[in-house]
Amino acid sequence: MDISPPKVMPPELDRITRLVPKFNATGWRVTDIPSGLYRDLYWRFREDYTIHDLAVPEGNTGGVVQGTAGAAPALVIAGTGFGDAFFERAHTSPEIIALMEGFAGCRLRPTWWYGPRVYRSGAVLAEHIDRLETHLVNATLNIDCDLAEPWPIFLKTEKGYVSADLQPGQMLLYEGVRFPHSRPHPLKGKHYAGMFLHYEPIEKTQEHEEYLRHVKEMA
Ligand SMILES: [Fe+2]
Repeated sequence: MDISPPKVMPPELDRITRLVPKFNATGWRVTDIPSGLYRDLYWRFREDYTIHDLAVPEGNTGGVVQGTAGAAPALVIAGTGFGDAFFERAHTSPEIIALMEGFAGCRLRPTWWYGPRVYRSGAVLAEHIDRLETHLVNATLNIDCDLAEPWPIFLKTEKGYVSADLQPGQMLLYEGVRFPHSRPHPLKGKHYAGMFLHYEPIEKTQEHEEYLRHVKEMA
């Protein structure tokens, strides 16, 4: 597939995508968010976003998300300590960890999570890889969206580009350093609310240790 996503990936990181350990044969999978958890996330999001209007422009997205000129490319739900604790639960929920471990084929430790992050009309996700040390096994969740056209995510796999058009309640499990990823087509519609969950293996193989040594040398 011929797509030309804007890139924020320095060329030397191409090497890293070849060195990073592989966990799943395919490296990506679309699956449903466990239904009880999804219902809770969806209603909490709708309450914060629609009823209490708590979304504010996100200050720093590291250049990965680009929007139309003059508009913040992404919003975050702010000022809700309770909400943060609520959404953090998804990251460490036994159901999600079991899903992620089944995908990765090894035991995982939660490292980082973000969200809900709300993208609006014109938003583009530049091609990038995730954090080299801590974002090896990841999930991106569609919590809610109101789109005029699909807004697929593209993964640059060893066999070429593949894309996933997540529906609300679905999640993409993927290896975020192995596969540069992007949403190259500007979002058309009102919003897309995502959550992002990141994990690393608890036990590291020799290949993994070697990879981490390379990452350190690059720093
Ligand atoms: Fe990413």
